[in-house]
Amino acid sequence: MDRYLVFGHPVRHSKSPFIHTLFARQTQQELEYGLAEPAVDEFAHALRTFFDQGGKGCNVTVPFKEQAFTLVDRLSPRAKRAGAVNTIKRTDDGVLLGDNTDGAGLVADLKSHGVTLADSRILLLGAGGAARGALAPLLAELPSELVIANRTHTKAQQLAAEFHDLGPVTAQTYEQLAGPFDLVINSTSASLQGELPPLAPALIHTDIAIYDMMYGASDTAFISWAKQHGARQTMDGLGMLVEQAAEAFTVWRGIRPGTKQVLRELKRNLGEI
Ligand code: ATR
Repeated sequence: MDRYLVFGHPVRHSKSPFIHTLFARQTQQELEYGLAEPAVDEFAHALRTFFDQGGKGCNVTVPFKEQAFTLVDRLSPRAKRAGAVNTIKRTDDGVLLGDNTDGAGLVADLKSHGVTLADSRILLLGAGGAARGALAPLLAELPSELVIANRTHTKAQQLAAEFHDLGPVTAQTYEQLAGPFDLVINSTSASLQGELPPLAPALIHTDIAIYDMMYGASDTAFISWAKQHGARQTMDGLGMLVEQAAEAFTVWRGIRPGTKQVLRELKRNLGEI
């Protein structure tokens, strides 16, 4: 049976096996999908061993995405731009292809919620790996403006300069931000420490769309905060997780699974998987 898995640390609570098992059932593909949690300095060895033993492909999650970028034989253009790899496919002649489906997953999920990106003003919070992965796919949708705000302003400036060739992207400090924005995407890890990005409540209005790349069994801190200040359309990162997985599945199997029902089942079981 064709073998796939997700590498991460920690990875025990990963939803990927659940998602890919449902995709496989739905598309009648015979495969098994497991978990691997190598020690942080043993990832390269674990990855090589998995593929030497016939593994067909894998996902890579925190904290290995940047390392995976350096370990594959070839990179897709979108992985090159993201500076990170979340999906690896082994070709029949043994070449390891590194791809990144995170940004495509974000855009697919935004579209599935009916969010219009063309001609919109987008505010991206955070300038880490998650923001970097989202930039090229967002700019490809031709927003009128994309502003990056980050606690450490120089990182936002660097990122804006790096992606400037792809569209109208600038960096501003949280204090400089002037609305109205149509969409705010939170890519920060603030909520992991139970914190909020220091965004002025005045930037939130009833017609704004709020996207938090994090998710949980209940509203994330950022989504609760945005709702309190009047946001009516809020989305968390569970849909992005399912969409990036669908994109990875398509890369591996050449067949695109449907995501709606998988997302529904995932929501129903959140906290139990
Ligand atoms: P990831 O790969 O998930 O993006 P990361 O590269 O560690 O993770 O980046 C985390 C991002 O969240 C950074 O932009 C970080 O801001 P700094 O560059 O200033 O560190 C941001 N972040 C983390 N905690 C935050 C907080 N409490 N308030 C605002 N931004 C925060």
